[in-house]
This record gives sequence, structure tokens and C-alpha cells, in this order.
Amino acid sequence: MKFAAVASTLLLAGSALAAPHTAKRHEAHRRRAEGKTSKPVNYVKDESGNIMTGVNNNTFVSYSTNWAGAVLVGTGYTSVTAEFTAPTPSTAGSGASWVGIDGDTCGTAILQTGIDWTKSGSSVTYDAWYEWYPDYSYDFSGITVSAGDTIKATVTATSKTAGKATVENVTTGKTVTHSFSGESSEGDLCEYNAEWIVEAYEEDGSQVSLADFGTETFSSASAIKSGTTVGVTGATIIDMQSSSGSTIVTCSDTSSSVKCTYV
Ligand SMILES: *[C@@H]1O[C@H](CO)[C@@H](O)[C@H](O)[C@H]1NC(C)=O
Ligand SMILES: *[C@@H]1O[C@H](CO)[C@@H](O)[C@H](O)[C@H]1NC(C)=O
Repeated sequence: MKFAAVASTLLLAGSALAAPHTAKRHEAHRRRAEGKTSKPVNYVKDESGNIMTGVNNNTFVSYSTNWAGAVLVGTGYTSVTAEFTAPTPSTAGSGASWVGIDGDTCGTAILQTGIDWTKSGSSVTYDAWYEWYPDYSYDFSGITVSAGDTIKATVTATSKTAGKATVENVTTGKTVTHSFSGESSEGDLCEYNAEWIVEAYEEDGSQVSLADFGTETFSSASAIKSGTTVGVTGATIIDMQSSSGSTIVTCSDTSSSVKCTYV
């Protein structure tokens, strides 16, 4: 709430500024009108505040109400990448597939990029987006995502308040990139977490109903930790639970991939 208030104050202040920010503001308004926000992980906890864990499909997992996937926890994470396919949801609802830095043990900021998908009636729509949480997300322009497209998403932090988000069309090699700078007005990164996530994000202040996306696989997944490229090995695996406590997404990993399946 505090961060949301700061963000809207800055947005109002920003509207007094001249041209260079017009396009970004325009996108911001559009995105904001849709009310989409990708959030930090919300773990399911017991009465003592301990994260609920379990074993699914021979994998030790932690449970969350909004994230499913894998998170590396440590220090010095400055880049995260993976390739994944735009899923074809089979039930009404939405969801997002993305890679990011922070949002687990660091809650002050998240540098993230990926796609979201919505099935409404017989139509499925997609957006490619970038976000420096707690700012809301912005749609990339110049890229149109369709079912089955393979994209490569990469975030890179050049400091704790600057970096970039890139989405590449793996078929054509075409990329769209957004550079962030001076994001201390939003929040500083900690560089504590590298993650590959399927999320039930927020829309109009409430969590979307997660569409049955089938299986999402993040392949060629890697991160840069203190200058060295690392794989997924050692990550916390997160399964998503519904509010009633049943598992709705189950995930597993290999050294270079994260696979999540809607149950
Ligand atoms: C990537 O390029 C292919 C070939 O032009 C196109 O069919 C596909 O929709 C594009 N996907 C994205 C995400 O740009
Ligand atoms: C669960 O395990 C089976 C057998 O190893 C595997 O084929 C399947 O992909 C796993 N599911 C997930 C979500 O990882």
C-alpha cells in the first residue's frame, strides 16, 4: 500500500514533465487501466509463520498462493534467463510466465519480464511485459505473442536501481528491450533471488483465477551469480495452492529447466 501510494504520487508528478515520458505514461495508463500487477511471492504459512512444505511428485516443495516455479536464494544474482512457450489455456482465466530477480527473500523490488495470457470465451490473448515492482507493469510494444510462440525472456541488473528486460522471438531473433535507470524511487533490488515463475497475478486488486495452462517449461534456464553462470540446481521449488489448500500447480526442475503443470 505504501509503495502503491508512492508510485501514484510519482505518476502525478511525472505528468507535469515533458515529452520523453509521454509514451511510457501512455502505456502506463493503459496497463494501469487493466489493473495488472505482478507481486512478490505469497507463501502459505502455518500459525507460527513457517512456510508450509510438502512432497509432490518426489520433489520437496514450498507452497504459495500466487507463484509456482523455482527460486534460487542467495546473494549476487544479477541476471536470469530462460526460454518458454506461450501456452494455450483450456479454461477461462489468466496467468503469467516470467523470469525475475528478487520478490522472495527480498521484497523491496522485483525486476521481471515475461508474458501473460488470458482465455475469455473462445479467445485467448497475450501480452509481453516488463516490471520493476512496486511500479506496475508495462506492455512491450513491437512484439505480438501468439499461442505456441517460443520466447526468450531475460532480466539483467546493472546495479540495484538499474537494469534491463528483454524479450526475444526465438524463431526470428527479434528482440524488444526496456532499460530501467534510477529506480530507487520505486525500490532497490537486493540481488538475493533468481526465479522462473508461473503466477496468478493481480487484476483490479484481486488475484486472477488461474487458467488451466497445461504445462509450462522454462528451458535453457540460467542465472548469473556474482559474475558466474549458474543453473537451477539448488532452487526452492514452489507449488501453487488454491485458497482451500489444494495443489493447483506442481513443478519440478533439472539443472537447466523448470517445468510446471496445472493439476
Ligand atoms: C516470432 O516470429 C514468428 C515468425 O515470424 C511469428 O510467427 C511469431 O508470432 C513471432 N512471435 C513473437 C512472440 O514475436
Ligand atoms: C512428475 O513425475 C513424472 C515422472 O517422473 C514426470 O513425467 C512429470 O513430468 C512430473 N511432473 C511434473 C509437474 O514435474
